[in-house]
Amino acid sequence: MNQVIEQKSFRELSSLSQGHLASDGDGVKLTRLIGNKDLNLLDPFLLLDFFESDQPNDYLGGFPEHPHRGFETVTYMLAGKMRHKDNVGNEGVISANGVQWITAGKGIVHSEMPEQESGLLKGFQLWVNLPKTHKMTEPTYQEFPANELAMEYRDDGSEIRVISGTTNKGTIGPVINTHVKPTYMDVSLPAGAIFEQTLPMHSNAFVFVIDGTISVGTTGKKIDKNHLGLLSKGDLVSITASSGMSQFLLISGKPLNEPVARGGPFVMNTKAEVMQAFRDFKNNTF
Ligand code: CO
Repeated sequence: MNQVIEQKSFRELSSLSQGHLASDGDGVKLTRLIGNKDLNLLDPFLLLDFFESDQPNDYLGGFPEHPHRGFETVTYMLAGKMRHKDNVGNEGVISANGVQWITAGKGIVHSEMPEQESGLLKGFQLWVNLPKTHKMTEPTYQEFPANELAMEYRDDGSEIRVISGTTNKGTIGPVINTHVKPTYMDVSLPAGAIFEQTLPMHSNAFVFVIDGTISVGTTGKKIDKNHLGLLSKGDLVSITASSGMSQFLLISGKPLNEPVARGGPFVMNTKAEVMQAFRDFKNNTF
């Protein structure tokens, strides 16, 4: 072991969950991994949905026109296509391995609809909270198709797609968020490969296993496919692919430690601000 690593404190697996089956938008079937009754909030993450189906009836309804205020929505597709369109003139299609990072700020109204009538639709939507000082910022977009995201290929066959944050080997994701300094990586490891990543000591962090089985930290606790594992605090996470090729998301962010008032698509600091959002939406003054 080299000295640098010995001085680090490893993050370990602190809890496991499989989320809750839910339906949102116009009947889209999904698994709500964060933002459910067991894990309501993982500050700064308000919600994480995972959708995966090759049955058109599970997704065709999509997410027709709806508003957001007070946070960011991050859509990352693994398979299929999603078209988004909003009230300030932005429109585009997110395809496999592409990401769209919307800072809704003071408000957008948009639709997110599958751009396909059959086949597999698979991906994630994450909601990242905005600090009180920036909840009413002008809405902005960051959109990166697969070929504009940073890829890191390691000698051991590991592949890391970096959406935001910097790997220990220096690959930098293109998404910029200065509020919570998120790390969002999609990591694929061949059996036995080890992935080590430095994370800010006090950020909240989790992994979600897309394929295979991984083991975490010095305790080697295992996480199976379709499970979300919360990580303890620490400045380094070490993950090993323990059976076959494994793929997982590693996501972390600095907690905001501010009051959270939720009202459906609006997430503010107080109930009064949520009520104001409903009024502004109704009066078209978004
Ligand atoms: Co939306």
